[in-house]
Amino acid sequence: MSIRIHGPSESMGGADIVDNMSSWSLENKPRRADADFMRNVPMDTTLLDRGKYPLIHPEKLHATFIEEEELGLGRAESQHQVRFGQMILNSAYDHEMPDLVAVKPFEIARDLHREWAANNYINSIGRYQRAFLPLGIWRRNNGDYNLITLYEHGVKSYDEVFWADRIGSPEALRAQVVEKAALTCVQGLGYLHGLGVVHGDAQAKNLAKDSRRVRFVDLESASLLPRVGSAVLEDAETDRLTSRDIDSFFGSTMLVSDNQDRIADVFNDYSMPVQLVRSYQDGLRRGSRESRLRLPAMIAESESFFSSLIRGL
Ligand SMILES: Nc1ncnc2c1ncn2[C@@H]1O[C@H](COP(=O)(O)OP(=O)(O)O)[C@@H](O)[C@H]1O
Ligand SMILES: [Mg+2]
Repeated sequence: MSIRIHGPSESMGGADIVDNMSSWSLENKPRRADADFMRNVPMDTTLLDRGKYPLIHPEKLHATFIEEEELGLGRAESQHQVRFGQMILNSAYDHEMPDLVAVKPFEIARDLHREWAANNYINSIGRYQRAFLPLGIWRRNNGDYNLITLYEHGVKSYDEVFWADRIGSPEALRAQVVEKAALTCVQGLGYLHGLGVVHGDAQAKNLAKDSRRVRFVDLESASLLPRVGSAVLEDAETDRLTSRDIDSFFGSTMLVSDNQDRIADVFNDYSMPVQLVRSYQDGLRRGSRESRLRLPAMIAESESFFSSLIRGL
C-alpha cells in the first residue's frame, strides 16, 4: 500500500507517453515541430515523457490529481500559483501508480517549453540533479499548459531567509545564516554560469538548496551564454547576462524593508566582497569542470564589482 492523499480528485484526462519531450534542451532552439506539438496537445490531456515513465503501459492510461495544500508550505512565493499534490496513473496494465508532483500553469506554451528545456539541460550536463525533474504536461480544459514536475520536499528557496518574517521566525535572519545564504547563492550562480547558463530571474525565491547542494528553480527565462565551440565568449553580452543574474539576486535580498538593516549589517562587513568573489569563482570552477566549457574572465570576478553592488543596495 502506498500513501493515498485524501481530498477531492481532479481528472487530468486521458494520458499518453511520448518520446519527443526528452530532447527538449536549451542547446537546440525550440523547433517548429515542438511549437506545433504543443499547440496540438488536446485539452483535458496529460502527456508524460517516456524517459521518465519507461515502465508504464499507455493503453487506457488515465491520470488523476489530488491536491494537497500542505505540500505548498514554504513555497508560497509563486507567481504562477503552482499547486502540489499526488498524481495517480492507471492504465489497462498498471493499477494506481502514485507520484507526488508540482503542477505549474503557463499561459504561453513557449515559456513551458523553455522551462522544460532548461531543467533538462542543467540536469543533463551537471553531475548532480540541480533542477526539478519534468515529468510531463497537463493541458487543462481552460487551455492552460501545466508543467508537471516531481515534488521534492527538501528543496527550500532562499526567500525563506531574506524575506523571512522577522518576528515569526527570528532564527532565519541570524547573521551567520544570512552570510551563508548570500555566499551559497553567489556560488550557485557561479556554478550555473560555469555550466554556460544564465538564470534570467535569479531572485532569492528562485534559488534554493536541498541538504546537499544549490538548486535552480523557475527557469522559464534561462538562456545559454554566447559561445563558440566549447568556450564561452568573452564579450559584452556575457558580461551583461552574468552581471544581471547577480544584480537580480542582490536586489531581491532587500525587498522586505523590515529585514534590510539585518541584511545590510552582514553585507557591509569589510570581508564580504572578497568572500563573494571567492564563492563565485569556486562555483565557476565547479561548473566549468562539469560542463567542460572554457570560461573567459567574468565581470563578477572582482572585489570592486561586489563592493559597488553592495554600496548601491
Ligand atoms: N517539483 C517541485 N517540488 C517542490 N517544490 C517546488 C516544485 N516546483 C516548484 N516548487 C516550489 O514552488 C515555488 C514556486 O515555483 P516556481 O517554479 O518558482 O514558480 P513561479 O514562477 O510561480 O514563481 C518555489 O518555491 C519552488 O521551489
Ligand atoms: Mg518563482
